[in-house]
Amino acid sequence: MQVVGSRLAGKTALITGAASGLGAAIAARFTAEGAEVIVSDRDEAKAASQAAKLGGSSIALHLDVTDEASWSAALADIENKFGRLNILVNNAGICLAGSVEDLSYDDWRLTHAVDLDSVFLGTKAALPLMVRSSAQTSGSVLNISSISGMVAAGNMAAYNSAKAAVRHLTKSIALHCAKKRYGITCNSVHPTFIDTPLLDEFAGNRSREETVEKLARQIPLGRIGSPDDVAWAAVYLCSDEAAFITGAELAIDGGLSAM
Ligand code: NAI
Repeated sequence: MQVVGSRLAGKTALITGAASGLGAAIAARFTAEGAEVIVSDRDEAKAASQAAKLGGSSIALHLDVTDEASWSAALADIENKFGRLNILVNNAGICLAGSVEDLSYDDWRLTHAVDLDSVFLGTKAALPLMVRSSAQTSGSVLNISSISGMVAAGNMAAYNSAKAAVRHLTKSIALHCAKKRYGITCNSVHPTFIDTPLLDEFAGNRSREETVEKLARQIPLGRIGSPDDVAWAAVYLCSDEAAFITGAELAIDGGLSAM
């Protein structure tokens, strides 16, 4: 992809779950703003094809965010190849619908492993290299939570719980990094329904068009979000423009949480 801006020039960014949906859109915007991007995913083949589309100095990396050893290997690889890391976007996530009565304990644990434990493991693994890299340029951790981390629904017990915990963990990481004077911010974004494959979880027996229309009716702005609606916020929050913003939460929800 041709570089069209320089808001992230001189920064190296690791994005998890970047083979699809929001992660892929963030990777594309980051590349266009001059960042070196590591497109990581548990699906290595899809990550490789996504990185190839981006071109530039972006690379694909296998990373299962639930696996501590996978994080260690990824960070060692990044240090070898780039020598630095400035941005971590904890984006990989799954959404398994179900009420407290319907959900199996396995699905509860899987949701928390992918959506919440990943943020702990990833930030813990990445911080040492990010701190060493922050002498040159400031760093950012961005956690992709969800509006489901602020507003609950009866059939989203595990997802609500995991995404709400990500919101609060973000603030703890932000305060830790501030106290240590690391020059690293940590913020969370809270998108509502965004048009990605993850929406299939909400489809039930309906077609995708019917699902999108039904979801759009719940949003004050009258539409669901596009991956770029989130990617632009990520560019801002991971740029030096947002250097004084830390521990913050940004709803990207077409007005839903204002009601
Ligand atoms: P998606 O399903 O399009 O992409 C998720 C990516 O994460 C996939 O490439 C998948 O392979 C990867 N992934 C899943 N488990 C993984 C693991 N253990 N290790 C590494 N990669 C893994 O979903 P989407 O919509 O792009 O979701 C991205 C993030 O945005 C998630 O955290 C999701 O909860 C959040 N989100 C999505 C919303 C939506 O409506 N699409 C709304 C609010 C938040």
